[in-house]
Amino acid sequence: MANVVVVGAQWGDEGKGKIVDWLSERADIVCRFQGGHNAGHTLVVEGEVYKLHALPSGVVRGGKLSVIGNGVVLDPWHLVDEIASVRAQGVEITPENLLIAENTPLILPFHGELDRARENQNSVAKIGTTGRGIGPAYEDKVGRRVIRVADLADDATLERRVDRALVHHNALRSGLGLDPVDREALIEKLREVAPAILAHAAPVWKVLTEARRAGRRILFEGAQGALLDIDFGTYPFVTSSNVIAGQAATGTGIGPGAIDFVLGIVKAYTTRVGEGPFPTELFDEDGKRLGERGHEFGTTTGRQRRCGWFDATLVRQTCAISGVSGIALTKMDVLDGFEELKICTGYELDGEELDYLPTAAEAQARVTPIYETMPGWQESTAGARSWADLPAQAIKYVRRIEELIRCPVALVSTSPEREDTILVTDPFSD
Ligand code: IMP
Repeated sequence: MANVVVVGAQWGDEGKGKIVDWLSERADIVCRFQGGHNAGHTLVVEGEVYKLHALPSGVVRGGKLSVIGNGVVLDPWHLVDEIASVRAQGVEITPENLLIAENTPLILPFHGELDRARENQNSVAKIGTTGRGIGPAYEDKVGRRVIRVADLADDATLERRVDRALVHHNALRSGLGLDPVDREALIEKLREVAPAILAHAAPVWKVLTEARRAGRRILFEGAQGALLDIDFGTYPFVTSSNVIAGQAATGTGIGPGAIDFVLGIVKAYTTRVGEGPFPTELFDEDGKRLGERGHEFGTTTGRQRRCGWFDATLVRQTCAISGVSGIALTKMDVLDGFEELKICTGYELDGEELDYLPTAAEAQARVTPIYETMPGWQESTAGARSWADLPAQAIKYVRRIEELIRCPVALVSTSPEREDTILVTDPFSD
């Protein structure tokens, strides 16, 4: 299979970094297709730790083309800093190996200010965002007032675009008690950063079409997770982009027929950062233990993640919505040593049983999980590389998950090391 999309099937932080890195070795091109530097992917390659936010994971491996697609929102100053920091680790980044779609919207400083101002109002509007201006930049994209990469090439266009955006933003800022944006300073800042960004600008849809024709393997690297999807997530406690697999097509300009395999990344339990409903959340010792054993702190914000039991109802739903072909089950080893494990198989709401998460936020907040309980295992699964290395009870847990979510396991990851992976189906194999 030539082209693979990797998506998170829960609330993000499923361990995509390791899997994407593992797959990127087999790919020729690695593309980001949504989100921005709200994402945080930690990669460990030959002992070196790379923390990526906006750059596709392929950049740390030589000989790959990395692509930022139009579905992403890009903070150009952040990107310049991130490029400098990975360059300082010895990674080569050139206009030949990093392309940015010309129609990519830019995150500007006032987007971050607006994001944080809204969050800090401490009102009902709080979402628990990363404060990086992601939502406001997407709002401007659909509001037809965003500045895109291609606009940086022409001074007059750039000024017109800034003016168009400021009509809206200065009115908004005044309502929030913020000073108007300094127009001249912003234009100057954009002029300064323009050459560094334009050096990588390209018609990505065309590059990908030609690459596909030439038989290149493309890996589409999702950020966040399906339950943070703007349409299908736990709205309004979501991110501002479509994060499900269909977005790989619109977020890069390749037809949906080009996608051969969708790999859903699924953590063996559940976590979430920020506000919003979380039916299987634990507030007891078990939850604490999952957080400690799983090192559940956000890569981008350092916030402690909320932890809970595996929710098969949610994952069945997200696998269906993303058309997941197979899952990569991660962080199995965090469950080692539990006496028993619970899996959520459905919900109860007002005396009725549901086999999916209802859409209304109010109902999502009130569902109570229906659990089945399985015995845990006392042996260590850390570092297992074949089924034979796993305790019988751990295999039963995986098999039960497959049944409940109606999707096969393609990979099981048993430690942050890339070799500690049980391979069932290679998403790139023909
Ligand atoms: P935003 O994407 O910064 O607007 O944040 C919206 C919601 O998405 C918040 O609950 C964030 O915590 C969550 N979020 C954004 N990016 C990530 C991620 O990469 N992993 C997990 N949660 C994320």
